[in-house]
Amino acid sequence: MPFFSHFCRQLQNKVAAAPKENRFPALDKRKVRVIMIKNENTAKRRSYAAFAEIFHFVFVENHLFSQKPLYFELFKETFPMIGDMKTVLSGVQPSGNLTIGNYLGAIRNFTAFPDEYKRFYCVVDLHAITVRQVPAELRRRPYETLALYMACGLDETKNTLFVQSHVPAHAELGWILDCYTMFGELSRMTQFKDKSSKHSENVNAGLFTYPTLMASDILLYQTDVVPVGIDQKQHLELARNIAERFNQVYGDTFTVPDGYISKDTMKIMSLAEPTAKMSKSDPNPNAVVYILDSKDDIIRKFKKAVTDSEAEVRFSEDKPGVSNLITIYRAFTGKSVEEVEAEFRGCGYGDFKLAVGEACADGLAPVRDEFARLMADKAHLEAVMKAGADEAAYYARKTMSKVRRKIGFVN
Ligand code: TRP
Repeated sequence: MPFFSHFCRQLQNKVAAAPKENRFPALDKRKVRVIMIKNENTAKRRSYAAFAEIFHFVFVENHLFSQKPLYFELFKETFPMIGDMKTVLSGVQPSGNLTIGNYLGAIRNFTAFPDEYKRFYCVVDLHAITVRQVPAELRRRPYETLALYMACGLDETKNTLFVQSHVPAHAELGWILDCYTMFGELSRMTQFKDKSSKHSENVNAGLFTYPTLMASDILLYQTDVVPVGIDQKQHLELARNIAERFNQVYGDTFTVPDGYISKDTMKIMSLAEPTAKMSKSDPNPNAVVYILDSKDDIIRKFKKAVTDSEAEVRFSEDKPGVSNLITIYRAFTGKSVEEVEAEFRGCGYGDFKLAVGEACADGLAPVRDEFARLMADKAHLEAVMKAGADEAAYYARKTMSKVRRKIGFVN
């Protein structure tokens, strides 16, 4: 085990060099939890276990414990890559065409995580069937969502990109978590209330338990960070509660995830009805700008955008239409609100809308081109999906076997 012996020697030297009185500082009464080890392959885990034995650490599940503070300082110094590898996961539904709301509010933020993160991005097709889907479309759309992930800058060799239904553990853990989620909690979810009033002819149980499936997506990979749009905050909070509840009953099982709603995460509103979120299922074609719309279409839609009767480009709560356009303009130009207001001072809305439309169309052009290139090679997309699912399944299996054991399922 060259990995082990190299680091072990390094550490032994450090311990030997430390002043004697520091070597065995007063023992803490409680064992101190040191470092979480996760997402590591078996060989490395074996190294850590061997290491732990030599240096009197206790290695339980994913944690190292020690009573010698100096040793864990040295340990952390020697193995800097351990404990720092955080996991990121997010998902996008393959229903409907993706909008600039999905792009600016979610997908663009996915690219914000550097290589030190283990990153999973899934296409959540199981979630999509909570409302009726046309099979032929559902069959096509995961390719599109995957291609969009890649076109937006997610490198398939550095990110695990996969389709949710290819990893059956999502549904399996989803069921289990259903049994640790309260009816009352799910009843309070605003997305459920919205969707059940919109689809009153099909208020199915899946629509109701949608958030536990989302919790399963997240907890299955021991996720630390979940980049989502602001509208998913409540679901994320529920996922945290479920994880904490489960951990309380069975001991440490799931990482309790944090949401990542960056300050650049923008809530993009409908162009036709700027007090409502831009939604890919909006029946009004002028309300929504799709990532793959042509430049002409984009400009036409912005020209028709609802504003107000003031003719003043100013960001303000009582000017939702203009404020939404300012937000979109900022997102594509990187300018601040003040800069945008100054730029269009004295301008009519016509010029302003045209400028926003052009900034948006030009900003999306590279994504659109790359998307077209990727969609032309279906075999490659299939290979990416397959590799992603295999990788994801490996991590999912680990969590599932732990969960099964804790619950008491017979092996
Ligand atoms: N519910 C999310 C949405 O509608 C999509 C989603 C499903 C998701 N599973 C997830 C997001 C896990 C983040 C993490 O946008």
